[in-house]
Parts: sequence; C-alpha cells; structure tokens
Amino acid sequence: MIPDTNHPNPGALRWLWQERRTSTMPVDQSGVWRFRDLLPILQSPENPVTLREGNTPLYDLPRSSKALGIDFLLAKHQGISNPTGSFKDTGMTAALSVAAERKFEWVACASTGNTSASMAAYAARAGLRSIVLIPEGKIAWGKLSQSMDYGAVTLQLRTDFDGCVRILSDLLKRLPIYLLNSVNPYRAEGQKTAAFELIEQLEWQVPEHVLVPGGNLANGAALGKGFREMLDLGLVSRVPRISVIQAEGANPLFRSLQENGGEELIPVEADTRASAIRIGNPASFRKAVSTIHSTGGWCEQVSEQEIALAKAEIGAEGIGCEPASAATLAGLKKLVASGRITREERVVLILTGHTLKDPEYTINYHRGTLLDDAEMASAITSDLALHRVLQRPPVVLDPDVDSVLHIIESVLRYPVLA
Ligand SMILES: Cc1ncc(COP(=O)(O)O)c(C=O)c1O
Repeated sequence: MIPDTNHPNPGALRWLWQERRTSTMPVDQSGVWRFRDLLPILQSPENPVTLREGNTPLYDLPRSSKALGIDFLLAKHQGISNPTGSFKDTGMTAALSVAAERKFEWVACASTGNTSASMAAYAARAGLRSIVLIPEGKIAWGKLSQSMDYGAVTLQLRTDFDGCVRILSDLLKRLPIYLLNSVNPYRAEGQKTAAFELIEQLEWQVPEHVLVPGGNLANGAALGKGFREMLDLGLVSRVPRISVIQAEGANPLFRSLQENGGEELIPVEADTRASAIRIGNPASFRKAVSTIHSTGGWCEQVSEQEIALAKAEIGAEGIGCEPASAATLAGLKKLVASGRITREERVVLILTGHTLKDPEYTINYHRGTLLDDAEMASAITSDLALHRVLQRPPVVLDPDVDSVLHIIESVLRYPVLA
C-alpha cells in the first residue's frame, strides 16, 4: 500500500481526471500531466515541459482477434498521438521537466532511436541543449531524422546500443549533463500514466493480460508500477498479467528466465531488424523480472519472420506500427497456442511506435526482400500463405490505362482479408 494516510479518494480522482479532459490548459491537455496527482515530481507541477503527449488511442483488432479466436483484443497505440510517434514521450515530458526545473543546460541519452527523437524534441521545447549517442547504421531513418530536426547534437558511434551506453556513462563523469536514459526514475513515472489512461479508457475494467515489447525493459516495469499504484489506491481491484515479448536475436530476458529463473542477467550480442529492441544488456532487467513474477506474466521470444508477419497483419488492420511493437502480436499467438492465454481472456497489446518510424523495413517486407530464404523456410504453411496475401509490392508501370486496368484485374484475384 502507498504509506500516505491521506490517500486521494478514488472516485474524486476519476472525476478530476475526466474533468480535466475539457480544460484548455496545456497541463490538462497532456495525457500524462492530467494524472499529475499521482506524479509528484515537480516543484511547480502546473508548468511542465509538455507537447500534449499521451491521450493515445485504443483500437480493436477485429481480424487478428478472429484469427486467434479471442473475443477481446485491443491495441493501445502509443505511437499515435504522442508528438514524436512513440511511447517515449510520456516518460520524456516528466524527466525533461525535472531537468529544466533543476536548471540543467545539457541533457543526453544513448538510444536505439526513439528515446533520442523524444529527448531532442522536449529539450528543444524547453530550450535545453541535447546530445544523442546512437549506434551507427543501426537505427531507423525516421528516428535519426527527428533528432536532427529537433536540433540535437547527433553522434553516431561505431558500436551497438550497449556500447553507446558505456560511452555515455564515461561522458557523464566528465560533464554536468542530465542523463535521460530509461534508468532515469522520472521517465518511469511518466510512462506509468499509460496504465491509468488505459484503465480509464476501459471504464475501470482491468484486462487479464497486457503485452509489451521488451528492449531495455523499462516500459513493462513502468506500466506495472502504474497498475500497482491504482490497486493500492483502490482505483482497481486487481492488476493484469504483464508479459514481455522479445526478438529471438535480442532475448536476454527470455534466456535468463529460461536458464536461471531470472536470478541473473545473461547478456547477449543483440541482433534483430526490430531495431528499437536490439538491446543485449538491458538496464531494467531486475525490474522486468519482478514485474513478470509479481503479475504472473511471461516472457516469450519471437522470430524475425513472426515479427514481420505480425507487423503486416497490424498494417492490414489499417493501424500499422513499427517492427518492435508488432512483436506483441507475434508473442500473443505463441501464448495462445501454448494455452497460457485462453480465448475468453481480455488482452491489450501495447504498440509502442508509429509505422512511419521505419518505412524501409515496411518497403523491404512488401518487396519481398526483408526476410531471407532460411527465415521464410521457418514459416509454417499457413503463415506462408498469409505472407502471400499481405505482401503488396509497389508496381512500376508505363503511363497507360490498359496496363493499370490489367493490374486491377489481377488484384481482384487476390483473396480479400475477412
Ligand atoms: C518502439 C519501441 N518499442 C519497444 C521498446 C522497448 O522498450 P523498453 O526499452 O522500455 O523495453 C523501445 C525502446 O526503445 C521502442 O522504441
């Protein structure tokens, strides 16, 4: 329980949060600061650095739901409505507000791309200088372009994400820079508000399962904190199971849980095309293990082929997401197939990034050049058939109406997704 005996009244909180939705004040329009009663991190909470983050939509996924035989399957899309297109904004508004209030001049992070995009935007907004350390050649173009657009000093180091983290910690010993990596505790404070928003959107009903993609492993833990706080305050009567889905090539949490029950982290040399979760030595490993154990969730791993298929399926629902986010749907299929999630249970996938973050991945998938032969050979027959239905390569044509009609006729022979 939260030790404070002056707990806010749950009914009053619900009313207040709802009431703020109609306000024109920036602090109320933010989907993070609207919940500021549970975010006691600023001296002047009325004046945060906000870009009106949060307020992210909750979509149904009718086709995936039907294919899996699950009645209740929703996706909370944190890549949509958040100003830089990923869930990182909900944590960044909190941590950057602290940096600004403490009068730091410089902020910095190591990143697989989304943190740097978010930090650069909020730093620019607050008039702070920002430095991003990213692995050269290993982040998606959309994200790289954002940190430049928002004026960050963008350093592409010839190493991986874990190497960037090492250099950043050396840098921090030499200069008075405020660290905005996910170990910054205020980022988790901001990110936990997505749990409040989700449950509010569900009219205070708690789903049985929430699935998140896992990289540095901070997000699942932050959501877990949010759900626990709601339980402690009497806003909900239980918490959902939180499961973390990793790419097979970047699976330190999965391996550690399999091999030693999560007692000790087994770092890996990370390799996956889902660049946001290409992390081998996750900083929030302990918190993630504790979240999974305390909520009764699981960690599952998914292949490159499974991620690509799930991403195309989410795209075909008219929603789209970045590859890391699609790991959740791929993981859900495995959890359902193994009976760990049953068909009558209510499931929410957390989609963490916008599809336009990594258009190269999507284009390569539809052109048929993303997955290699071995990866395609690993697909089961029904998945291969689904790839064929979903892949829509662009067609280059002479400017001739008969050629266009010919293509339309051939498209009419494609099966239509039910
Ligand atoms: C789009 C996206 N999804 C998932 C993750 C993983 O989140 P976490 O590092 O908190 O596990 C990240 C982290 O960069 C991300 O950018």
